Amino acid sequence: MIKKGIVLAGGIGTRMSPLTKSVNKQLLPVYDKPLLFYPLSILMLAGIKDILIIVNKGQLQQFKKLLPNGKNLGIKITFAEQKYPKGLPDAFIIGEKFIGNDSVALILGDNFFYGQNLTKKLQECRRLKNGAKIFLHPVNNPSQYGVVKINDRNKIIKILEKPKKFISNFAITGLYFFDNKVVKLSKALKPSKRKEIEIVDLLKKYNKKNKLSAEFIGRGGAWLDTGSIKDFYEASSFVSALENRQGLKIACLEEIALGNKWVNKKHILSAIKFYGKCEYSNYLWKLIK
Ligand code: TTP
Repeated sequence: MIKKGIVLAGGIGTRMSPLTKSVNKQLLPVYDKPLLFYPLSILMLAGIKDILIIVNKGQLQQFKKLLPNGKNLGIKITFAEQKYPKGLPDAFIIGEKFIGNDSVALILGDNFFYGQNLTKKLQECRRLKNGAKIFLHPVNNPSQYGVVKINDRNKIIKILEKPKKFISNFAITGLYFFDNKVVKLSKALKPSKRKEIEIVDLLKKYNKKNKLSAEFIGRGGAWLDTGSIKDFYEASSFVSALENRQGLKIACLEEIALGNKWVNKKHILSAIKFYGKCEYSNYLWKLIK
């Protein structure tokens, strides 16, 4: 069982400037909560309690104010800093000590997932012992993503970063599960033309050894990566529409912790005190009434 997870929440957020000049992108709101809550909720739904959040150098205090520790959530949160955006596999180099001898899940801090049966799929992925697993989702602009071509048995036959020519509409989402070899393999990666180490190169190494498998979010599910202001606006509309219709929140971390039986009423009361009088706290009240 994978026990450890990393949220990679650094990045410059160039496309979101001036919003990201003084605040990290992952702390900006997607409707009623910071973007960071959404990827964090995915690791918690997977049942992962030991979580490393990687942030930009100099931005640690911003994040610690929001998540001082994981106590109210029944999880352990560790922070680490990334000097500059060296590429996604840098997460495994920075996280080497945190990972130790374990396997690990990685989620990008700006990725939003929602869908039926997702929790079950996530929990199944946690069973990974060997190799790597990626989540795929169709997109209508594959040339902007890392893309894979699969055969009729869902075997990955080609992996390309931002292909100019169409090979498939299956994009590689920002959620990955890796065995412990990922640390060593990441360290051996050479920077690409854009001077980053690339997750696609890491995945190719696993695929060459027939150790890469794919999972699908499914047509009924949503995957959004929030890179631009338009993306934030669309993600917010999506969350607002669902939450207001159902009266249930997406990515309420305390609710997930309560559902997993990691916390009790006392922790929720402490969270309410921490957030203060707000709509999010009102929701937490309802959970323990
Ligand atoms: P990107 O979309 O590559 O970068 P960004 O979010 O900073 O945006 P922009 O392109 O507008 O500058 O990154 C995807 C996610 O991964 C995002 O949450 C930031 C994070 N990230 C890191 O934390 N460290 C890294 O080295 C890289 C490449 C990304």
